Amino acid sequence: MNLSQRHALVTGASSGLGKAVATALAAGGAHVLMVARDPHRGEAARTEIIAASGNPAVDLLCCDLSSQSQIRALAAGVRGRVDALHLLVNNAGTAFPRWGLTPDGVERTLAVNHLAPFLLTNLLLDLLVAGAPARIINVGTRMNTAMDLEDLNWQRRPYRMMQAYGQSKLGNLHFTRELARRIAGSGVTVNAVFPGVFRSNLGGTDGAQGLFWTSVDRLLGWALKTPEQAAERVIHLLTSAEVAGISGQYFGDRVPIKAPAQADDAAANERVWQLSAAMVGLAEESFPRVSGKGLDHR
Ligand SMILES: NC(=O)c1ccc[n+]([C@@H]2O[C@H](COP(=O)([O-])OP(=O)(O)OC[C@H]3O[C@@H](n4cnc5c(N)ncnc54)[C@H](OP(=O)(O)O)[C@@H]3O)[C@@H](O)[C@H]2O)c1
Repeated sequence: MNLSQRHALVTGASSGLGKAVATALAAGGAHVLMVARDPHRGEAARTEIIAASGNPAVDLLCCDLSSQSQIRALAAGVRGRVDALHLLVNNAGTAFPRWGLTPDGVERTLAVNHLAPFLLTNLLLDLLVAGAPARIINVGTRMNTAMDLEDLNWQRRPYRMMQAYGQSKLGNLHFTRELARRIAGSGVTVNAVFPGVFRSNLGGTDGAQGLFWTSVDRLLGWALKTPEQAAERVIHLLTSAEVAGISGQYFGDRVPIKAPAQADDAAANERVWQLSAAMVGLAEESFPRVSGKGLDHR
């Protein structure tokens, strides 16, 4: 894999899958923009990624993805560093054990897992078109739960962590399908991937580890994949000629897998897009439109 001259952005690159993907991309010669929320964990990971890959072209950008103003600042920071983006991996994920709203008024698990990739990707779309052929990968899960579109913020029913996680991750699939439709012909593809089940700190920083993930790790840790093994699926989708031009698909181990039926519903995909746009304050008129080889900003 020769990724020299390619700019790649990976969220959640301070640990787990994101760190493994960032390391593999750096080892392939890419310029990696790694996004982490904590400067100390981020810097420690950056040092490890540079040492493991032998590539010093690894930049750290700090952003708490639960904050829409920080996501906007992140997008501005990316613009300050590159004038084109070739690879975008929306990997960061979490699960909050208790209900809470972000300062933007959004339920926290939804904010990080679904709205953050939605907003960040839309803010970076023109850079991706400038880098075309470019690829976007959204990291999904098999633990999907239908989204309650009347109550995305969990204000009318008891909050359940695993359901909130499953709904937010189904949001990733709705987003993947609708974005693929909207940017068809732009030279940018978007796909989702189920990375398999692997050893993880998922939600640990946000207090969820003790409730669920630790048990999974303790009971099954020996049998689980490593993040590096899980990263192989992501790297394949980012770099293989086999998937060039393929968009809107949900991949498992190098082959498309069946998405939950909701993600096959074009009207639902459009509705989730509209609701998400409203929640991040992006007006429909502000979305770029594909025309010819590029995107028009109306
Ligand atoms: N592990 C599995 O078996 C599995 C299976 C299917 C899908 N996935 C998906 O794989 C992705 C990576 O998970 P992982 O298992 O590698 O977990 P992980 O080791 O906990 O990594 C998650 C990353 O997301 C970051 N993150 C969380 N909240 C954030 C926020 N508010 N702002 C910025 N960054 C934030 C974390 O940063 P901190 O270091 O600051 O916490 C961390 O770098 C997730 O999308 C997850 O849903 C995992």
